[in-house]
Amino acid sequence: MVNPFKYGTVVSGKDFVDREGELKELAREIRGGKSVVLYSNRRMGKSSLLLELSKRHCREFIFVRIDLYGLTEQSRFLEAVAKETSRAAFGVAEKFASSVWKFLKGTNLRLVVTDSGELGVEFYGREPSTSDVAGVFDLPEKAARRRKRRLVVIFDEFQEIAYMDGVGLLKQMRSRFQNHQNVVYVFSGSKKHLLHQIFEEREGAFFKFARPMELDVIPNKQFEDFLISRFKGAGGNLDRAAARMILRKSKGHPYYTQQIAHELFDISKTPSGEEDVEESVRAAVDHQSPAYTYMWESVKSPLHRRYLKAIASEPGVVHGHEFIERHRLRSTSHIQRIENQLEARGIIERGEIVDPLFVVWLLRIKTGL
Ligand SMILES: Nc1ncnc2c1ncn2[C@@H]1O[C@H](COP(=O)(O)OP(=O)(O)OP(=O)(O)O)[C@@H](O)[C@H]1O
Ligand SMILES: [Mg+2]
Repeated sequence: MVNPFKYGTVVSGKDFVDREGELKELAREIRGGKSVVLYSNRRMGKSSLLLELSKRHCREFIFVRIDLYGLTEQSRFLEAVAKETSRAAFGVAEKFASSVWKFLKGTNLRLVVTDSGELGVEFYGREPSTSDVAGVFDLPEKAARRRKRRLVVIFDEFQEIAYMDGVGLLKQMRSRFQNHQNVVYVFSGSKKHLLHQIFEEREGAFFKFARPMELDVIPNKQFEDFLISRFKGAGGNLDRAAARMILRKSKGHPYYTQQIAHELFDISKTPSGEEDVEESVRAAVDHQSPAYTYMWESVKSPLHRRYLKAIASEPGVVHGHEFIERHRLRSTSHIQRIENQLEARGIIERGEIVDPLFVVWLLRIKTGL
């Protein structure tokens, strides 16, 4: 029997829970011509939300999705913009090649067949000049006008832009995008600090360009109903108490909720009692263990490590004098510095560890700190 719970891949359709408010809000901003910056902690469901949005509104708007993950060179990024815009605007029908060829005329880009047999777009000869860059960044507006429909360009993992000659490129992007009448941009990413600098600080290249929107956990009730109905749909049975317990363990975090439910379904299609849920949490933590070991080892300072163990074992406790003494954390100003650093890395937020299973892992490990 196929396990009905998916994690680690983008989900949509029947695997997608709730987010009705966010979907409406995004559609409203797009209709109003307002660009959006969508941010959240890792694995909170940004890519899934944007996929669901593009499926639901595919008749109304043309969606272009550009994933910046792993792109480190400016020219590869520009090629991705040109390729994905051409593909979304003209599809992959036979007419694709000739339409795209006309569309790209005047830029220094040409159509190529990639090693995997796909049609791609590539700069030829030299590195792109300033006018090539402007030409590429104007392609979405050109496509929207030609197709007489609003285009929505989604930049997923947008923070990666910082690794490609950041500021100059960002400034050029903004100078083109702000003239576009028929395109709305959605910038999505998980490095909140970086995105904040770009979009919300006065010196940021995209200051006031897009409306910030933060994605949080999914409401428990909706997720519980989903878990119960998926168990049932797959011939099993999950009672309300067990569903509630899963949500308590995952703190409503979509990725970990799906992962724990996945493990639980493998353990038993008709789980009973707390023991099965506890076991599924253990299995989920085991799966994440290599990533947690890596994260732990990347935190070099014993003081930082003690801090992480401290907040894992005493969540919500005020970081006062006694807490500092008990965990040998030196002083309030040391805590402040540690928090700033761990927060910038996305490991903690407002003094709490973001990943609920990392907390379980931390409580499990024995360290001689
Ligand atoms: N609306 C949803 N309903 C059900 N499950 C969801 C939903 N959104 C996300 N998930 C779960 O969370 C996982 C991560 O989702 P997704 O990849 O969309 O997050 P993300 O924020 O884009 O992550 P990253 O920061 O790694 O890019 C999915 O594989 C799925 O298990
Ligand atoms: Mg994503």
